[in-house]
Amino acid sequence: MIAAIIAAAGSGERFKAKIPKALIHLGDKTLLEHAIARIAPAVQQIIVTAPAGYEEQIKSIVGDDIVVVTGGATRSESVRLGLAAVDSAAKFILVHDAARSLASTDLAQSIIASLQSGEVAVIPGLAEVDTVNVIGSDGYVLSTPNRATLRTIQTPQGFQAAILREAHKQSGEATDDATLVSQLGHKVKVITGEESALKITTPADLAIVMTFLGTASQFRTGVGVDAHAFSEDKNRQLWLAGINWSDEIGVDGHSDGDVAAHAICDALFAATSTGDLGSNFGTSRPEYAGASGSSLLAETLKIITSAGFSISNVTVQIIGNRPRIGARRPEAIEALSRALGGAPVSISATTTDGMGLTGEGKGIAAIATALVFK
Ligand code: CTP
Ligand code: MG
Repeated sequence: MIAAIIAAAGSGERFKAKIPKALIHLGDKTLLEHAIARIAPAVQQIIVTAPAGYEEQIKSIVGDDIVVVTGGATRSESVRLGLAAVDSAAKFILVHDAARSLASTDLAQSIIASLQSGEVAVIPGLAEVDTVNVIGSDGYVLSTPNRATLRTIQTPQGFQAAILREAHKQSGEATDDATLVSQLGHKVKVITGEESALKITTPADLAIVMTFLGTASQFRTGVGVDAHAFSEDKNRQLWLAGINWSDEIGVDGHSDGDVAAHAICDALFAATSTGDLGSNFGTSRPEYAGASGSSLLAETLKIITSAGFSISNVTVQIIGNRPRIGARRPEAIEALSRALGGAPVSISATTTDGMGLTGEGKGIAAIATALVFK
């Protein structure tokens, strides 16, 4: 039998999202689900390494047939932890990055075919397009390897099970598994990789893989506005932009009155032509009475996702004399982004110089825009 370990325990620091990179959405699925869907037809067992704290969430996404283990502090450590869960009957093991979400089933099958023909380690590589220099710590070039001999290495990487286990025995550290296997003196065969197997590292890479998905993105925008009056009830809590402002007086409303969250929901509904706040969560839907802004955002995300849309970004401007947003902006952005599955969010705030709308100090308003793609 053949097993695959999918390394998905990284935090995605360079991606700069508020959630682990493997849980970022690409179209209708997370990066992890894309990776699993493509490798699954080639293997009989799949093990996913999850970031600590996300095991249950990942289990619920990937289903019962897949083993989820907690990953480690480095990729090599995560792979070792995954390796411990591989069935002892596995003859070959593929190690794959969740971040190479679009590596094809064909690529996995070519790796396996090469193992079946007797290779002990097989990895995909692409010809290098740039000149690559070795540089010293002083920043000066030491040498320039001949570009024709260089390959950019990808995953899935395939190994005879015993050799991969041997390579990981010493708790070695490397950026991929073939390096550890090669250090033991084993021959590592390079086959032709795939451009679409690129490692999604930054948000710009997402746009590139969208084009590989073959769904030329259809972008659409929407705008949403909401306003609520300050409550007469001095005990009413203020919820704004997904967080609680304990020193402020709350606003009246059917839900928690979070105008920033509501404006974003409406902008998303508008962009995707899925109605508005009233038609989706209005007073005719008593189950949403008192609902938090964050839960309405999460519900909205579900609605627009089932309509086939993903969020490119949302912005919201809060209009009011108080509260002062500045100091808590990062916290508010994080709360809103989390509710929207990690989508990029920005928040600005303004007063209206004592005029109109909220200038009289009677309440708070917000205007949001959303950019989505199908
Ligand atoms: N990975 C892992 N365990 C770690 C670190 C990384 O399982 N401790 C996984 C990542 O989830 C990813 C793959 O290894 O699928 C390749 O790593 P990389 O693309 O560098 O992802 P991150 O480490 O999450 O990103 P960054 O380096 O930007 O933080
Ligand atoms: Mg990393």
